[in-house]
Amino acid sequence: MRLENKIAIVTGAASGFGKGIAERFAAEGAKVICADLNEEDGARVAGEIGPAATFVRCDVTSAADWTTAVQEAVDAHGRLDIVVNNAGYTHINQPMLDVDEAEFDRVYAVNVKGLYLSAQAAVPVFRAQAPAYDGVRGVFVNIASTAGIRPRPGLVWYNSSKSAAIGVTRSMAIELAAERIRVCGINPVAGDTPLLKRFMGEESEEKRAAFKASIPMGRLSTAEDIANAALYLASDEASMITGVCMEVDGGRCV
Ligand SMILES: NC(=O)c1ccc[n+]([C@@H]2O[C@H](COP(=O)([O-])OP(=O)(O)OC[C@H]3O[C@@H](n4cnc5c(N)ncnc54)[C@H](O)[C@@H]3O)[C@@H](O)[C@H]2O)c1
Repeated sequence: MRLENKIAIVTGAASGFGKGIAERFAAEGAKVICADLNEEDGARVAGEIGPAATFVRCDVTSAADWTTAVQEAVDAHGRLDIVVNNAGYTHINQPMLDVDEAEFDRVYAVNVKGLYLSAQAAVPVFRAQAPAYDGVRGVFVNIASTAGIRPRPGLVWYNSSKSAAIGVTRSMAIELAAERIRVCGINPVAGDTPLLKRFMGEESEEKRAAFKASIPMGRLSTAEDIANAALYLASDEASMITGVCMEVDGGRCV
């Protein structure tokens, strides 16, 4: 029960890494607000987790939706301890000039502006509430990517949005450290979620083999791998840790 009495918002909880994080957090004692655009899958995931989870429809690019999600946590549980900014989006793997402006805007809105809006909504709540273990008032765990530090071709605007997510994580960490609001990140390597096909450009055994071959440990990452890292960084065990962006990548960025 490493997250006993913790209240967490997990964005993008309807699928992939976010689903794994929400499930693991609930299993470790947290109350989890599963926030996603996808109402059907989000509500199903929260229902499968059980009473520890609730679903809230939240588009992370909307300030109003962030207010709703944070209010949901405070109304139901009286506080908010953890925000996992996991929702993410990519353009399909293609030459950089072929990505149209609307698609560029969407990538940056979800992957970068979403972090700004999460800070606007959650930091005031963290500041106003009584500190918990070791004086920590709240924790952000941002799911960035190895793409932000070791880019693959065909993903220019996605890669750079994840570099920005890493920059936001480190910058927020240093600005908020004195208030004991921690800001950590995770850089997953390619994982077998619905996004993978877009990273590869097409679904084929050859592409999968090529992606696996680029990972020294010889396998893709899983939702459990990412959830285990998020659990540690969000927990009291990591109370002295801020500003790290931890690779969970089987050695790809070494
Ligand atoms: N799968 C990978 O290979 C990989 C590798 C590194 C990093 N990541 C990052 O991990 C995170 C999770 O990705 P995943 O692979 O689990 O993808 P996924 O597609 O399985 O899940 C993403 C979830 O985010 C939700 N979402 C998208 N836009 C949203 C928005 N505007 N508001 C709220 N929810 C929204 C989707 O509905 C979906 O449920 C993303 O930030 C992604 O960039 C993924």
